[in-house]
Amino acid sequence: MRKRILSGMQPTGELHLGNYLGALANWVRLQDEYDCFFCVVDQHAITVDHNARALPGLVFDMAVSYLAAGVDPERSTVFIQSAVPEHTELAWYLATVTQHGELSRMTQFKDKSDQQGEASAALFTYPVLMAADILIYKATHVPVGEDQTQHLELARNAAQRFNGRFQKGFFPLPQGLYSNTPRIMGLDGLRKMSKSLGNHISMLEEPKPLWKKLAGAYTDPQRTTVTEPGRPEVCNVYRMHTALTDAARLPVIAEQCRSAEWGCGHCKKELEASLNTALAPIRERAKELKANRALVDQILGDGASKARKVAQQTLREVRELMGIVGPR
Ligand code: TRP
Repeated sequence: MRKRILSGMQPTGELHLGNYLGALANWVRLQDEYDCFFCVVDQHAITVDHNARALPGLVFDMAVSYLAAGVDPERSTVFIQSAVPEHTELAWYLATVTQHGELSRMTQFKDKSDQQGEASAALFTYPVLMAADILIYKATHVPVGEDQTQHLELARNAAQRFNGRFQKGFFPLPQGLYSNTPRIMGLDGLRKMSKSLGNHISMLEEPKPLWKKLAGAYTDPQRTTVTEPGRPEVCNVYRMHTALTDAARLPVIAEQCRSAEWGCGHCKKELEASLNTALAPIRERAKELKANRALVDQILGDGASKARKVAQQTLREVRELMGIVGPR
């Protein structure tokens, strides 16, 4: 059986460089090897307070980001989660093989509910819907960030319990695929890159603001003057080079930094070039797609129909196995 991937991101608006390098760039590579399903998880986005008016635009922008980054609708199935209502039905069935105690141990639930006044039941069962997203396609692999390990474990447990009760080997136990790109820190160098912290470079950043941001980016805190040798191993700008610059060039950059031949400005100029090489085609495609809404809608509609065929088949089998049958 061909290996299959499912992954999804919440529609949070435009993605930043860390999301691109850590997640999307990885999805794009995986398309060669796997049968891929990528969705925008709008139903997960409503598990915390959300702005109903803003949501459709955020979903559209996220779909544009996937496609602009190089997710190819000819090879991968790209769709909006809510366009395949089978996910939520499967989530109900999976909830019957998920333990309450398991859900109450989810650290992401604890973190998010601490930030909310009163946590919704949907936030509590969030991981069950995520398990359904994955299992409805019988996905074998799930590219995600390390922060999703616990959710994935829950999906595996649900699959295993379902298989044990109803049919051996029915659901594959999905494996996480973690990107080996180093974690990109924010431009303040202290915390993970994040849009809400405002320390990010957008995936669609235009050249001018891009350089402005890079120019102010934090490097090696010990290097207070140009004559002082730098330490590439602790420098976030160097870390970005390792993700974006030609591997053959890296030893040169590291050496010029260590020997203080170059100041940080020089190093950043090289990074600017690498970034523009990587981002220019993405910016171009995003512009074209944003100007062609009908095309994006067409892609998402086709993706949803393809996904539904697979999802409906799994659901028929699940209902049958669980004894949910009868006239309908
Ligand atoms: N919980 C994931 C996140 O916040 C998003 C998500 C929802 C997901 N369903 C998924 C990721 C299925 C992978 C597979 O990043």
